[in-house]
Amino acid sequence: MAEISGTAKLPSSGDKHGEATERLWVAFVTGVIVLLVAVVVYTSVHWGFHPPSQVETIESTSLHKGGEFAEANLGTVIAPDGSAVVRVVAQQYAFIPNCLVVPAGKPVTIRLASADVVHGFIVEGTNVNAMVVPGYVTTVRTTFQEPGERLMPCHEFCGVGHQAMWAHVRVVDASSFPTDADKQKAVNCAS
Ligand code: CUA
Repeated sequence: MAEISGTAKLPSSGDKHGEATERLWVAFVTGVIVLLVAVVVYTSVHWGFHPPSQVETIESTSLHKGGEFAEANLGTVIAPDGSAVVRVVAQQYAFIPNCLVVPAGKPVTIRLASADVVHGFIVEGTNVNAMVVPGYVTTVRTTFQEPGERLMPCHEFCGVGHQAMWAHVRVVDASSFPTDADKQKAVNCAS
């Protein structure tokens, strides 16, 4: 039976090789951690990536009762500088409106809120790709250079109708947009 005493020795003299391996491993792991932190800092500063803590919350169950995502506000409004803000509600199993209209060559801000579960959206041929989580507003900024029609599918599984949840983005010439008088009215492809 081993005797318990206060002078128990750690493995030492005979274990030089093990110690060197251990130090190498510590150095390697430290290097990986430093690299990962550097990547996070670089992407946040250089590409303007923001951590998910920068969130805007919203009451998803009462979007229809008023406020920013009330029915009359859904669609595109044009600011005096020609930039556009598009407001969209995602719900099982449709985007409202289901056809977004945006001006080509102008900054476009897309704001989405979910009325029920987690949805997602991508716009074909662009880097627009985000999740829409109930309780939060998803904001994406982009510029569509060329007029044309693009598909915007939901890409988060949201229930049995997920595969049928699609919208379109119609990019039109900036000059085809509503005149000054009615530019505060939200428009979509049907307007
Ligand atoms: Cu909404 Cu999938």
